[in-house]
Parts: sequence; structure tokens; C-alpha cells
Amino acid sequence: MTNVVVIGSQWGDEGKGKIVDWLSERADIVVRFQGGHNAGHTLVIDGTSYKLSLLPSGVVRPGKMAVIGNGVVVDPHALCAEIDKLAGQGVTITPDNLRIADNATLILSLHRELDGIREDAAGKSNGGVKIGTTRRGIGPAYEDKVGRRAIRVMDLADIDTLSAKVERLLTHHNALRRGLGEPEISHDTIMQELTSVADRVLPFRDTVWLMLDRERRRGARILFEGAQGSLLDIDHGTYPYVTSSNTVAGQAAAGSGMGPGSLGYILGITKAYTTRVGEGPFPTELTDEIGQFLGERGHEFGTVTGRKRRCGWFDAALVRQSVATNGITGIALTKLDVLDGLDELKICVGYTLDGEEIDHLPASQGQQARVVPKYITLEGWKESTVGARKWADLPAQAIKYVRQVEELIGAPVALLSTSPERDDTILVTDPFED
Ligand code: IMP
Repeated sequence: MTNVVVIGSQWGDEGKGKIVDWLSERADIVVRFQGGHNAGHTLVIDGTSYKLSLLPSGVVRPGKMAVIGNGVVVDPHALCAEIDKLAGQGVTITPDNLRIADNATLILSLHRELDGIREDAAGKSNGGVKIGTTRRGIGPAYEDKVGRRAIRVMDLADIDTLSAKVERLLTHHNALRRGLGEPEISHDTIMQELTSVADRVLPFRDTVWLMLDRERRRGARILFEGAQGSLLDIDHGTYPYVTSSNTVAGQAAAGSGMGPGSLGYILGITKAYTTRVGEGPFPTELTDEIGQFLGERGHEFGTVTGRKRRCGWFDAALVRQSVATNGITGIALTKLDVLDGLDELKICVGYTLDGEEIDHLPASQGQQARVVPKYITLEGWKESTVGARKWADLPAQAIKYVRQVEELIGAPVALLSTSPERDDTILVTDPFED
């Protein structure tokens, strides 16, 4: 298979950064296809640490083309800030190594503000639902995209029509703001905000679907870099406690303009336990000292917001669902070493709902809150698995745990990551070589 799609199979933060970086070395093009600068990961290359939120991982590697697809929501100011920060670290970003889809939606300051207003009101202005968003304006920007009033990248090139589009957008937003008791925003403010970045953003714009089609025909290896996780998917996640885009693998096609038949290997990044940031159901959450242990050992703090992540046992029922909704070919199992030293380990295999046994998380919010996990218990291991690079380096109980995970989720382990170091990986299948 030529192309690879990397997605998170849980609630995000599965450790995609290291795997995407490892794969991007083998790829010609790295494409983001959903989300925005709500994502975040750190790449460590030759001892230098690079923090990326919006830009695809490929940008830090010479000779790779990074692409922001139409499914991404782009904050142009955050984009420029990220480009400038990388320039300070010696990474030069030009249209030779970055392209942005001309039909991608822009995030404006009014989106970021609205996101914050809704969160600050503890859900009062959002029908009583506090999501715990990253406050980056992601949701409000996608709302405008679906509402067909968004400002898109190519609009920056045509000031005359841009003005009319801003007018239309503000008619909607100022009505909303009046209802929330917030001051109205002037047309000039938004025009100034957009025209001040137009010259910096426009050189990167491209007809991305066309470029990808040409490159695909040429035999280029394309890596699709998902953000967040499948359980934060707007349709398949724990709605309404989700992000505002489709995070499942199918979106790699719709969010880039490449046909689904060309997607290739679907690699689901899967943490050996479960974490979640923000609000929402989490059946296997541990609020005891084991949860605390996982959080500390696993350094479970959000990359973008610094928030403490909630931690819990591995939920095989949830990942089984992700295997199905993404069409996962194989998984990259990460952070196995965080479980080192625990006496016993539990894996959730299904749930009990109102006395009835079920094998998947129901879609209903009320039912999601009521499910009780059913666990199997496995013996832990005392040895350290940190830095293991072959199966023989792993204790027998750790191998048993991994085999049990594979069996329960119905997908094989392609890669096993045993530390943040890129070489501390057990490679079973190279997704690009499959
Ligand atoms: P939003 O994407 O900022 O609208 O936030 C919606 C939900 O997605 C919140 O629960 C966030 O914590 C979560 N979220 C967004 N981006 C990430 C991510 O990169 N990792 C984990 N959770 C995320």
C-alpha cells in the first residue's frame, strides 16, 4: 500500500506525534485533513524539540511537502505565529514545503471569542452543556462552514467580495452576540484582521485535491495525519462532548480531496490505557491512586491547554468500535511502559446497561453515563519495558497483555512504542510496506 492514514483510536493524545514523525520520514507528503490548532504534539528530532499545533509534521523534515487540507479550520494568525516560531528554530517554511487548500475555512478572532464565552458561561449560553473545549474557536468556525457563511482561504485574494462576505458573516454573529449581551463587532475590525495576514497566507494556497491527485499518480507516498481521536468524532464520538470535525479515517479523503480508494493502510494509534481531556463520559475512568499513578507516570497533561488528563483502564469495547468505524488495518500501541509495576491490570470488555449486557457504547448520552464496565483482570509485570525494541525484551505478562488487547479489539499490533524516543519501537509491520 502506498498511502497511510494515522488516526487516534481513543479520545486523542494517544501518542500520534512520535509515530507520525517516524512515518513522515518514509513519506513524500504529509497531509492534515481535519481539526485545527486544537491539536498539539511535540516532535523531538536530533535533540531539538518542535511544538506543532496546526502544521503537519512533515514541515520540520527537509524535502517533505506538508499540506493543510480543506477539512482543516485555519487560524491565519496562529499559522503565522507557528511559522515564525519554527523559523526561530531554523526551520524555513515556504510554498516549496507547505501548501494550504484554497477552500479551507478560516478561524477568526470572533470564533475564538465565542468559544471562550460559551465555555466561561459554564454552559449557560450553550444549552447547559460545557464541553471543555480548547477555546481555539474550532467549533464556531465549523458552524460557519456548515452554515455556508465562512470566510475561506481563497477569499483573502479578492478584497471586493471579501467585504461582502464579512458583512454577511457579521449579520449572523452580531445577532448572536446581541443575544448573549456581548458588544457587536465592526466590519473594519474583521477586514483589518484578514487583510493584515492575506499577503502571508496566500502564497501557500493551492488546489490541494489536484496536487494530491497528480502526486498520487506519480507514485508519491502520502501520509494523512489525523488529529484528536475517533471518540471525539462529531458523529461517532461521545456527542456532544466531542470536537466539531469528523476525526475518523474516512475524513482523510473528504478533508483532502483524495478519493477513499487511495487511502491505503489505516493505522490506529492506541494508548495501552485510556485518557481523556475535557468533559464527557469515560466508563473506565479511575479517580483513585491508580488513576493518579497513570497520570503521573504517563505525563498526562494536555499539550495545547496544559489541562490534566483523566486516566483509566484500557477500554477494548471502545477501541473495537474505532477499529470498525475507521477500518483500522493495524494499531500502534503506545505507552505500554506506563503500566510497568502495577500488580494487576484490568481491561474493559463490554458494559452492563440497566442490568443488560452490551458489547459497545450506546449512542445515547444518558445511556453512556449509565453504563457499567465489565472487566477482565490480568496479572501485571514488575520488570521495566522502557526502551524495549524487540518482543524478547518484554516480560511474558506484558506480551500477554498485548495479545489480549489484539484479540479483544480485533486488530493486530503493527508497532509497539516503549518510550518517547523514536527508536524505542518494536516494529511488526511497516504500514508503508504492507
Ligand atoms: P475543541 O476541539 O476545542 O472544540 O474541543 C472539543 C473537545 O475535544 C474537548 O473535550 C477537547 O478537550 C477535545 N480535544 C480537542 N483537541 C484535542 C486533542 O488534540 N487531544 C485531546 N482532546 C482534544
